[in-house]
Amino acid sequence: MNKNIDEALELVVNLEMHKSEFSPEVKVILAPPALYLANMVMVQNPFFELSAQNCSHHDYGAFTGEISPAMLHAMNIGYSIVGHSERRQYYFETDEMIGKKIDACLRNHIKPIFCCGESLEERNSHKHFITVLHQVEHALFHLKPSDMKNIIIAYEPVWAIGTGVTASNDQAEEMHAFIRESVGNHFGPEIAAHIPILYGGSVNAANSKELFACPNVDGGLVGGASLKAKDFATIIISAS
Ligand code: PGA
Repeated sequence: MNKNIDEALELVVNLEMHKSEFSPEVKVILAPPALYLANMVMVQNPFFELSAQNCSHHDYGAFTGEISPAMLHAMNIGYSIVGHSERRQYYFETDEMIGKKIDACLRNHIKPIFCCGESLEERNSHKHFITVLHQVEHALFHLKPSDMKNIIIAYEPVWAIGTGVTASNDQAEEMHAFIRESVGNHFGPEIAAHIPILYGGSVNAANSKELFACPNVDGGLVGGASLKAKDFATIIISAS
């Protein structure tokens, strides 16, 4: 919930100035507040795709204040973040609800960017692997392998989101390798090898290159640093 519409569009214009430096191999997905998606979808020749930050697990109906994956698809939006830790923490989203949101996205041609990650307390009590596995299992393990190919996973340790404390490269790589192995145990090695696993949590222009160089880190989910065009451009360039 950052920036008004003028500021958000200005950010896109400033980011676009760097687009010749972006590798075509790097996919850029912008997830503005839902209210701005209609404006952003009108940008001509965009260098980015669009995502919602959240969506309903229903398709249509009397669910005041909600936005459905069916509505997003009809607007040419391709993605939705699902299960962000702020949604889990402040809006009480459960693993069960998040699993239903994943299903709603998939049946409406929206690719979910599924977030998982442990709290500081869980890490300090050595429960981080169990916590993340539990989240991944509940959200994804009921899917058909063909649907699993449309999932993006974002590992976001809660203690690193918006705190300025980034997971070390080793901590990120260790958890990403664990997630990939868990996906492989359930869905087989081919799906595991191809599923994008992004790291999120205080990614910035100074640390992104090293994080993205980790073998199992396929990209980033960038919050605060994406609000400054130059920093975000540097992060996008560092992914190539
Ligand atoms: P941050 O946010 O990059 O500011 O830590 C990440 C997120 O909100 O997912």
